[in-house]
Amino acid sequence: MMSHSKRLSREAYTSNTWHSRETEELFASSWVFVGTRSDFAKTGDYKTVQAGAFALAIIKQKDDALLAVHNICRHRGAELFEPPAGNTGKSIVCPYHRWTYGLEGGLRGAPNMATCFPDLDRVSLSLKPAALGIFRELVFANPDPSADFDIWIEPLKALAWPHDLVAKDLREAASLTYDMKCDWKIFVENAIDGYHLAYLHEKTLGGPLPDQNVWERAGDHMVWYATDTEARHRLPSKIRKEAKGAKPLKGTEAAGYGGVYFLFPTTLIVPTPYGFSVSSLIPTGAGRCRMDVRNWVGPGQSLDVRKYIPGYDKASGIISSDNWTQHPSETGDFQTEDVWICEKVQRGISSPGYEPGPLAKGAGAEDPIEWFHEILSVALNLE
Ligand code: FES
Ligand SMILES: [Fe+2]
Repeated sequence: MMSHSKRLSREAYTSNTWHSRETEELFASSWVFVGTRSDFAKTGDYKTVQAGAFALAIIKQKDDALLAVHNICRHRGAELFEPPAGNTGKSIVCPYHRWTYGLEGGLRGAPNMATCFPDLDRVSLSLKPAALGIFRELVFANPDPSADFDIWIEPLKALAWPHDLVAKDLREAASLTYDMKCDWKIFVENAIDGYHLAYLHEKTLGGPLPDQNVWERAGDHMVWYATDTEARHRLPSKIRKEAKGAKPLKGTEAAGYGGVYFLFPTTLIVPTPYGFSVSSLIPTGAGRCRMDVRNWVGPGQSLDVRKYIPGYDKASGIISSDNWTQHPSETGDFQTEDVWICEKVQRGISSPGYEPGPLAKGAGAEDPIEWFHEILSVALNLE
């Protein structure tokens, strides 16, 4: 009998034990998206980033290099950098007792050092290092200082997009923040599911069917493209209207790149002929996550589509199903349909009556979900 035992259990999506295990063990050596190289213009510019339970900070050095450290003071553990971004000047000063570090993370000194810390061993109290990697202007960080970025990113190199993030015809548009009542894995599974496109999204994307989808594995990553190339040029209807008359970006007419890239575990990259986006999922609790989306668009397109997005609350800047004013399936927005279904799956799985069912076979259907579970099992040392 065919067994579905490889599938993750209900607890994987609902329990606090799983949530802590993932945020502390999986993210201890995972690469998470930080931003782009141009987010760090001047010496001392920093950004904070949450990698599961790990608080990290990335700092621009004097020589233009970027450095990733754990955002924790070595004295009593205060968070050093104020989130989400800023400039720390020539040094890093903890707001609690003013221990001071150089931009390179070395401890320079503490107030009243002679009386309070006559034997302070500054060398052993440098900021804890993390790892950093840059690919095509995109900056990633990993809490594990010995993590090898090249090994992680290498399988993607040959399949990457032609978009150039610093090209003049790409401009950054407003970022989006989604607060979702679903586990981050449910959102990932939906993003790599080629089986639902023609059904859940019948009125928005309208396909393609599973036999016109291909998900290709690239190391721990996956790349999606449609064999019906028209489909991958489709845009959500609201944005498509704005893009009328917009010309494809330079280089994007070339075939051979995907429409969706999933970088394990939490980054989704979507290059289209009219723009580019990077989404990162941040688990915020058992059965809960946030998604931060950075967007770049080509000429003639709106730099802020937030007002068109169902559930966008201007005051908080957050997109949430709490703020929907019409049924999600009536909005004409495929992302809203995805949030709707992910929250419905979370509610279904949360019921003790849930039992995993079989997955649709095929690289254009639900095989990618099986791959994701395999990769996750290895990363978490399951089995
Ligand atoms: S916790 Fe940072 S100086 Fe005390
Ligand atoms: Fe979808």
